[in-house]
Amino acid sequence: MILPTGIRVTRTGKPFLLVANTAILPHQFLKKMFVTWNWTLTSSSSKYYNLRIGRYTVKLHPEYFHIIFHEWPEWKMYHLPPFSLKGATVLDIGAGCGETALFYFIHGVKRVICVEQVPELATIISDNLRANKWNAEVYGSPFGIEMLNLSFDFMKMDCEGCEARLLEADLLPTCVMEVHDRHVLYALINKFGLTVANAKTTEWNPRYHNFERRQHRMYYLGLRFARVREKLHQTKGLRRLYYAVILVILELHPNFATAYRARWGRVWEAYYFPDRTNRKVYARATRSNKL
Ligand SMILES: C[S@@+](CC[C@H](N)C(=O)[O-])C[C@H]1O[C@@H](n2cnc3c(N)ncnc32)[C@H](O)[C@@H]1O
Repeated sequence: MILPTGIRVTRTGKPFLLVANTAILPHQFLKKMFVTWNWTLTSSSSKYYNLRIGRYTVKLHPEYFHIIFHEWPEWKMYHLPPFSLKGATVLDIGAGCGETALFYFIHGVKRVICVEQVPELATIISDNLRANKWNAEVYGSPFGIEMLNLSFDFMKMDCEGCEARLLEADLLPTCVMEVHDRHVLYALINKFGLTVANAKTTEWNPRYHNFERRQHRMYYLGLRFARVREKLHQTKGLRRLYYAVILVILELHPNFATAYRARWGRVWEAYYFPDRTNRKVYARATRSNKL
């Protein structure tokens, strides 16, 4: 279990715990205890966290440690299909540092094909697969539609916008994915009959305070984008045009599409199980089928 390293009090007198350099409220920690009962943080620095889960030990960039720490329960709900993946090969698009590969190996898959466009992260995945002797391979390049021809049974895609490329495909494999743009979502639904399991709004998260300055700038720009978009919908005439121009300028920022939109908009968890949908199991997730 990952134990607290300190306790602090907010300005309004509310106590909170420091767990793996992140602030969480006591009731959130209780929930985390159930999720992380067999997790050990063997070391942590500003560069890497080393995390052991069961028999696997992985090296993770801090941001990716926080992703696995906070999103594991969501992955159990939305990144696993209602049928068994035991012995399967998974295509993991947006593999990060290999945290989702770890998730799938723990859930019994035989092989993972990791696709991660950031070279430094792809190197970390290679280190992790060597250290754990995983049956995996790494593509350190952006997702391309030709990758759908690789041999796999199931695809997980969370690549902050690159899911739009799926619209070029004629067929969609059995998959789960995060969709980051409403228009892309509708287009995927129309073309392939994708089903939405959940919709959530992403917002500023104080756990990112420790990360590099560049990260801060990205989140700040993302925040501006969300605000400007709200104003655009609230105003009319020349002011509306003004906000539209600002939105276009923000969108032109080279990193915008891959980072800001993903973290500052709505995100839809969607799936496509052409002939294997177990409606009973997925009913819970799709009850409200929110768009
Ligand atoms: C939110 S993280 C994924 C974290 C975790 N592995 C998961 O699936 O929840 C998204 C990852 O997708 C990667 N990514 C972004 N665009 C991509 C692309 N075009 N092809 C492959 N990976 C991409 C990013 O570098 C980032 O590591």
